[in-house]
Amino acid sequence: MRIDIISVLPELMESPFRTSILKRAMDKGLAEVHFHNLRDFGLGKHRQVDDEPYGGGAGMVMMIEPLDQCISELKAQRNYDEVIYLTPDGETLNQKIANSLSIKKNLIFLCGHYKGIDQRVRELHITKEISIGDYVLTGGELAACVLADSVIRLLPGVLNDEQSALTDSFQDNLLSPPIYTRPSEYKGLKVPEILMSGNSKKIEEWLHEEAVKITQEKRPDLLD
Ligand code: ADE
Repeated sequence: MRIDIISVLPELMESPFRTSILKRAMDKGLAEVHFHNLRDFGLGKHRQVDDEPYGGGAGMVMMIEPLDQCISELKAQRNYDEVIYLTPDGETLNQKIANSLSIKKNLIFLCGHYKGIDQRVRELHITKEISIGDYVLTGGELAACVLADSVIRLLPGVLNDEQSALTDSFQDNLLSPPIYTRPSEYKGLKVPEILMSGNSKKIEEWLHEEAVKITQEKRPDLLD
């Protein structure tokens, strides 16, 4: 999978892709992430990328020319499955969206800034708008990292068996059951007997029951 991320602050996103599982995915050639500084497509001596909104109001708007040039240049080089704009008014990210994106080949992520992008960029290029939750960040960069992480970890070969994404919370619309490791007792707190019984069928049943119980308590909406 190849992800091209367009941003005015690409340096903000460097470390998540240089660390741990995402780094390994890149080193193994399972994912490629390329950053594009929108400033490189900025207008004039000052490499302008934003301007005042028509009709007035507070905040600046990301201009159409730099965005169109950057996206068009990328599109001329390969076919993209989706051009995704990270914005608080997009569809809220969930596991289903991450799963569906993980089978794509080429994706563009556009990080919004200021008040947002000129509406015509949406009409021209954007195929999907994604929010990572009902709150407003300073820009789309951290949201792009969250989205990329949720997708890249699903690519075959990125996680090993123990980390398998198949047992994640949300994959079957259930939250994860409680987990324990040694010691079997700490400050009077005991690990449930069943987990140490060695009876794998019983353990599996117990884990499923716990997952349903926890989902009922914390996120009943997932069971609807
Ligand atoms: N940009 C600013 N806030 C955002 C959010 N919640 N999700 C995605 N992009 C954003």
